[in-house]
Amino acid sequence: MRILSGIQPSGTLHLGNYFGMMRPAIELQDKGEALYFIADYHALTTVQDAGDLSDNIREVAIDFLACGLDPRKACFFRQSHVPAVTELSWILSTLTPMGLLERCTSYKDKVAKGIGASHGLFAYPVLMAADILIYDSDLVPVGKDQKQHIEVARDLVIKFNETYGCTLKLPEPSIREETATVPGLDGEKMSKSYGNTIGMFEEESPLRKKIMSLKTDSTPVDQPKETKDSTILGLYKLVASPADYAQMEQDFLNGGFGYGDFKKRLFGAVWEYFAPLRERRAAIIADGGYVDEVLRDGREKANRIAGGVMERVRSAVGL
Ligand code: ADP
Ligand code: TRP
Repeated sequence: MRILSGIQPSGTLHLGNYFGMMRPAIELQDKGEALYFIADYHALTTVQDAGDLSDNIREVAIDFLACGLDPRKACFFRQSHVPAVTELSWILSTLTPMGLLERCTSYKDKVAKGIGASHGLFAYPVLMAADILIYDSDLVPVGKDQKQHIEVARDLVIKFNETYGCTLKLPEPSIREETATVPGLDGEKMSKSYGNTIGMFEEESPLRKKIMSLKTDSTPVDQPKETKDSTILGLYKLVASPADYAQMEQDFLNGGFGYGDFKKRLFGAVWEYFAPLRERRAAIIADGGYVDEVLRDGREKANRIAGGVMERVRSAVGL
């Protein structure tokens, strides 16, 4: 089984990225042949400063490795190091009905948030389909917000195979129900574009401040607190042991503890959860050449696989 996923280097990674996509992807690296990449072509739709983009690429590479991506198990590379993906993207785009892209909600959402309405942003799902299909991927671990894009990739496989004979492989999304949407500081979906994120590798003091600023209702200390849809509990569940989580839930129901106390517990658990990852991150940063070496090896392997699929595609379409 081939497992593939990508993440954009478009800003600091947060708990939503980690629990929604990175951790599931890392767990899957033991279950098959994994390929994970940094979607730097995609990031050009939003990051248009060359220095920022190259800094972000390096940061994401370091962070993904710190989170446990093991380059001995998973092939890790940069999207732009496999330029054939843009060729496949073009070929797919000639089969992509406009209506299919017009139905994609992420384009409208991004434009509504002020991102420039470029052709690249509109055609984003076609490049994403090429990312998936060029490696003959079986399984694509992502957060829930990417589900529609994987449906586009599936539609394009069907269209391509109908038009040119059976050539491309049909991928399946892998979405974890329990972490499909990680809540942010305001209770909405955690997202860098909403400014409600908790970074995985934030310094202690700003992290504490952020968590203490979490939005809550005004239930008095002695009263029982609402557990349903509680952001504190939602986040705590991700980072605390089952016993500690059960205790906090009980304390919500019993009353007698204020939200400040719960937030302190949440901060402690987040800080502790990411401690070993912080350590690994420091070691990766200290080893100057490591990241480049990993990405160089990944580049070679990814190009080998993509080259084979592209040969098949070119011959199928008559190029
Ligand atoms: P953002 O919304 O911050 O821009 P991205 O769109 O770059 O995040 O998402 C990268 C990956 O992380 C995707 O697979 C996405 O589904 C996942 N992801 C992002 N935010 C969350 C969240 N709040 N809950 C679950 N998964 C998320
Ligand atoms: N669109 C994804 C995101 O914003 C990143 C991505 C690009 C991706 N290509 C992909 C994810 C292919 C999975 C498979 O998070």
